[in-house]
Amino acid sequence: MTIGILGGTGDFGRGLATRLRTLGEDVLVGSRTPREGVVANAEAATRAELVFLSVPPTGVESTARDLAAELAGRIVVSVASPVVFRDGRPSLDPGERSLAETAAEAAPEARVVAGFHTIAAKALARPDPLDEDVLLCGDDADAKATVARLAERIVAGRALDCGRLEAAGWLETLTALLLTINKNYKSETGVRITGL
Ligand SMILES: NC(=O)c1ccc[n+]([C@@H]2O[C@H](COP(=O)([O-])OP(=O)(O)OC[C@H]3O[C@@H](n4cnc5c(N)ncnc54)[C@H](OP(=O)(O)O)[C@@H]3O)[C@@H](O)[C@H]2O)c1
Repeated sequence: MTIGILGGTGDFGRGLATRLRTLGEDVLVGSRTPREGVVANAEAATRAELVFLSVPPTGVESTARDLAAELAGRIVVSVASPVVFRDGRPSLDPGERSLAETAAEAAPEARVVAGFHTIAAKALARPDPLDEDVLLCGDDADAKATVARLAERIVAGRALDCGRLEAAGWLETLTALLLTINKNYKSETGVRITGL
């Protein structure tokens, strides 16, 4: 499968690209500024079957809107969280709707799945197995199942169906929660759901 990563030049996208290539996937790293080894976001969206939207929260709506035609019919994984730092502390600046719902509205024919908010870029960049689950939500069951199969090759844990896209806001807040725990315990935490 060809996988595009829009905003793939950032920490998260680079870590994800490394993981996916290790798994043998064909990865197109996308950027607003194409250069050697990096294609334009529009090209990544056009050529890929599955696209990670890995831009900062402030770029989610405009990127999805500008590339709505290219993203039509594609599975689009929204990983963005509305994290802001206040006095060096992670906090949240959520809009009225989640970023994933915002992306879905901006690119109405994209098959949006929200997930991976609890997976740290640093952890992705390392070669060791990720002892974590991946939490996913979305309205397109087939798209969600495809992302779940991919996620379960990235983590040692499970990909869990957390419901419809309307639940994305819950997942998006978890990044700030984990960053706060990491700060307090000088750690790098992830999520494992027990009792299943
Ligand atoms: N970092 C983590 O550990 C982590 C964990 C979970 C989820 N996430 C989420 O993953 C996403 C990417 O994280 P990151 O740390 O890689 O972010 P980042 O470095 O801030 O941004 C990623 C890339 O997006 C592009 N970009 C920057 N501003 C943009 C804008 N206004 N519009 C469109 N593109 C823009 C830039 O690439 P070009 O200049 O090359 O276009 C940049 O390299 C974020 O939404 C974040 O919430 C991150």
